[in-house]
Amino acid sequence: MTKRPLIETAVFPVAGRGTRFLPATKASPKEMLPVVDKPLIQYAVEEALAAGARRLVFITGASKRAIEDHFDSDQELENLLKSQGKSELVKQLHSVLPSYATCIYIRQPAPLGLGHAVLCARPAVGNEPFFVHLADDLITADPGCLSQMAEVYSAKRASVIGCEVVPRSETDKYGIVEVEARGTTARIRSIVEKPKPAQAPSNLAVVGRYLLSPAIFDHLERIGKGAGGEIQLTDGIARLLQEEAVYAHRFSGQRFDCGSKLGYLQATVAYALAHPQLGPEFRAHLRRVVSAGGGVSSAAGRRKSLGPTQK
Ligand code: UTP
Repeated sequence: MTKRPLIETAVFPVAGRGTRFLPATKASPKEMLPVVDKPLIQYAVEEALAAGARRLVFITGASKRAIEDHFDSDQELENLLKSQGKSELVKQLHSVLPSYATCIYIRQPAPLGLGHAVLCARPAVGNEPFFVHLADDLITADPGCLSQMAEVYSAKRASVIGCEVVPRSETDKYGIVEVEARGTTARIRSIVEKPKPAQAPSNLAVVGRYLLSPAIFDHLERIGKGAGGEIQLTDGIARLLQEEAVYAHRFSGQRFDCGSKLGYLQATVAYALAHPQLGPEFRAHLRRVVSAGGGVSSAAGRRKSLGPTQK
């Protein structure tokens, strides 16, 4: 008999509108943006599966059909690839989702905030601890970030929040925690959403990885709108830690903020350089581009010569 995983359910809130990537995200979800050859949501699912999750709950919203299609089988495409003798590609399609994993899709009626998105997962999660994974925070780590957090959970039996030290000037982009002790894992004393640098209790920031006790749901149900007029997961956690221990875990690994254009480009370059087939050629290309002083001058020039009204 196979051992029951410690944390069986992973929730992927994918109902945000991704306004920072418009117009790319107008009809297609941010989580389907590819980093080299896999969409962000695929990296997310792989990290959760590696941490033991088997039930994958996607909180979806408008224009998110592509995510369901991505994890569904596509017999027509498989038949086409088989008829072309592309068996390696068929194998890759099968590896998108192993047969032991189950996908559940729940619609968030309106993007009322991350806390509300997590609350929408309640019927699928039940009374068990669960992961929350934000696919736009891409973390390269071995073992993966959620696996590291599951390890902490197995020792503490309490909620765990993935954290990272950020420059003090950037505290207003994150949930910020104050912890009771130094070290990789420490109990959280307080948490606040996007404080200004002068008001921030520390520069230890929450990243898009959570392992939460189901007690969070009652708090999310009760809290009202917080920062930005949204129902904030941070506010729910602030209530939770008044009743239960919640730990901050400084993961080891590298995070790319793929919700921002710069972070997304940095991830693309890093993953392309590390790619076994593409890496060497891409590195040589980058060197040439950089030593020539940049790669877009001719394209920019061409655009200029087309004039502002032409596309
Ligand atoms: P973000 O704060 O990155 O918002 O959400 P966003 O809408 O995706 O992107 P921008 O800021 O407009 O560019 C953090 C995570 O929470 C999810 C998002 O999909 C993202 O994974 N989310 C946010 C929801 O699922 N529902 C919401 O109501 C809000």
